[in-house]
Amino acid sequence: MRQVNLGIIGGGTVGGGVFQAIQRNGALMASRLGVSLTVARVAVRDLKKARAVKIPAGLLTTDWHSVVADPAVNLVVELMGGTTTARQVVLAALKLGKPVVTANKALLSAHGEELFEAAQHYGTNLYYEASVAGGIPIIKVLREGLIGNRITRLFGIVNGTCNYILTRMKDEGADFAAMLAEAQRLGYAETPPDLDIDGHDAAHKTGILASLAHGFWVNPNQIYTEGIRSITRQDIEFASKLGYTIRLLGCVKTANGEGMKSASRSRQSAIQVSVYPALVPNSHVLANVNGVFNAVYVRGDVVGDTLYYGRGAGQDATASAVLSDLADAALDLKCGTKNRIPPFIPHERDGAVLPMDDVVSRYYVRLTVEDRPGVFAKIAGILAKAKIGISSIIQPEGHDGVTVPVILMIHDAPNAAMRKALAAVAKLPVVKSAPVMIRVESFE
Ligand code: NAP
Ligand code: HSE
Repeated sequence: MRQVNLGIIGGGTVGGGVFQAIQRNGALMASRLGVSLTVARVAVRDLKKARAVKIPAGLLTTDWHSVVADPAVNLVVELMGGTTTARQVVLAALKLGKPVVTANKALLSAHGEELFEAAQHYGTNLYYEASVAGGIPIIKVLREGLIGNRITRLFGIVNGTCNYILTRMKDEGADFAAMLAEAQRLGYAETPPDLDIDGHDAAHKTGILASLAHGFWVNPNQIYTEGIRSITRQDIEFASKLGYTIRLLGCVKTANGEGMKSASRSRQSAIQVSVYPALVPNSHVLANVNGVFNAVYVRGDVVGDTLYYGRGAGQDATASAVLSDLADAALDLKCGTKNRIPPFIPHERDGAVLPMDDVVSRYYVRLTVEDRPGVFAKIAGILAKAKIGISSIIQPEGHDGVTVPVILMIHDAPNAAMRKALAAVAKLPVVKSAPVMIRVESFE
């Protein structure tokens, strides 16, 4: 049986998980693939570090160069994270004609164009199933399963850490910082975790999905990104009373898929690619994706609506996705195939990302205002002048005092108009703290 020797760079949460999963199911995979996978070398930063998953000392080294260059290693697995050394690792392997498997969405977001071009140039391949949505095989779905479809809309809960925090804040009234620490302890969070809670990790993943679905490179700088740092228990409770759950959503919408409303007629062919916390109706399936679970909802013009669900972060879920890539890479090595898998970006296609200012959304707005007559009229006047319609005004009970919260539910309005109107509202003397604005996703 053909043997493929793996050089793994990184023996942490994911690297340890992959090592463990190969010990557990390597023989099963060999029987299915006709190729045996052997871990030949593992590079880590610190040989003395205590490891939850024991890796034999004889396999460990701190010298990643020697692993990549080792003639016995014919498949390199980058699981170290970061974008600087990881880029060097991947380029060094590709230059030697060695295929690379990576789980590193930050790397793909920052240097994907260069790396996929290098893979093509050196006649090898770069596999990245674990880079999006943990154990859900969403890359294979978009790249192969739905290849006969135009993707008209895609919504994803693609960050396990944020979903874990938001779920526990809603279900238990838990504290944000304590839940983030717990997500770190469980091995879900990035280093640093700001990548998760400020929405960047979800943006990296949403950009990968958007590029794959639409066949042009979505520049990460074009992805409008908001995280969950400003989401309070108060907003989670108010949203819940109104029949919504707050979730961090990655959105990829096209105008012709009825998924996107644009303020600009001339930009109807551009796609919306964005990440923001949103009020999701409790009746929608994405409102019921809890804890570390992720879900990606994809509409294809042939297949219709499809949904993919599973653990979005953590050792075993991510290891499962890496094993899927190892199988693809091992088969390519066994069969000598180079173009069996469709490329990340077909070169003949291009497209554009719609500026967020032009995107039309619905909104939840929470204001803290003086508790006296005439306040609503002042706020409504500013919104009316900006042609922004209010669908309901709610003043939650039990807030007697000098200031009171007011919730406005706002009809469809362009993001630029909404931003300007809220800036004017914030300047009113009766408004006592910065307005909170969260988009409402209707999925209509
Ligand atoms: P991690 O636990 O911090 O592991 C990183 C590993 O890389 C450690 O073993 C570290 O060595 C090693 N390393 C760092 N710098 C190195 C260097 N210069 N040379 C050799 N080894 C080096 O991180 P992780 O959670 O496994 O994440 C790894 C990658 O998977 C990241 O790109 C992440 O975004 C991605 N990912 C993670 C998850 C998840 O749930 N954790 C899910 C999907 C994708 P030491 O052990 O000696 O420190
Ligand atoms: N930090 C990431 C998350 C890991 O929480 O989703 C999985 O990509």
